[in-house]
Amino acid sequence: MLNGLRSNGTRGMEIVARDYGPGIADITEAVMEGFSTSGGSGLGLPRVRRVTDEFEIASEVGRGTIVAVKKWAR
Ligand SMILES: Nc1ncnc2c1ncn2[C@@H]1O[C@H](COP(=O)(O)OP(=O)(O)OP(=O)(O)O)[C@@H](O)[C@H]1O
Ligand SMILES: [Mg+2]
Repeated sequence: MLNGLRSNGTRGMEIVARDYGPGIADITEAVMEGFSTSGGSGLGLPRVRRVTDEFEIASEVGRGTIVAVKKWAR
C-alpha cells in the first residue's frame, strides 16, 4: 500500500508491505546488514531502513509480517 502524505506543508509518502508468511523470529537480527536465511544478500531490510525516515516492523512467527516506512521530502 502506498499513501501520499502531507504534514505542516511537507510532502511525504508511506509504504506498508504486509504478508501472511512465516514471520520473523528475531527482528534485531533480520535488520542487520548481511543477515539472511534465504541465501540473499541480507541487504534488503537494512537499506530500506537507511533510506527512509521512519521504519517499523511488526511480525509474528507463523502469521506474517508488516513493514511500514515513511519518507519525507526535504
Ligand atoms: N517478510 C518477511 N518474512 C519473513 N522473514 C523475513 C521477511 N523479510 C525479511 N525476513 C528475514 O530477514 C532476513 C533479512 O532480510 P533482508 O531483506 O535484509 O535480506 P534477504 O531478503 O535475505 O536478502 P535481500 O538482500 O535479497 O533482500 C531474511 O533472510 C529473512 O530471514
Ligand atoms: Mg529481502
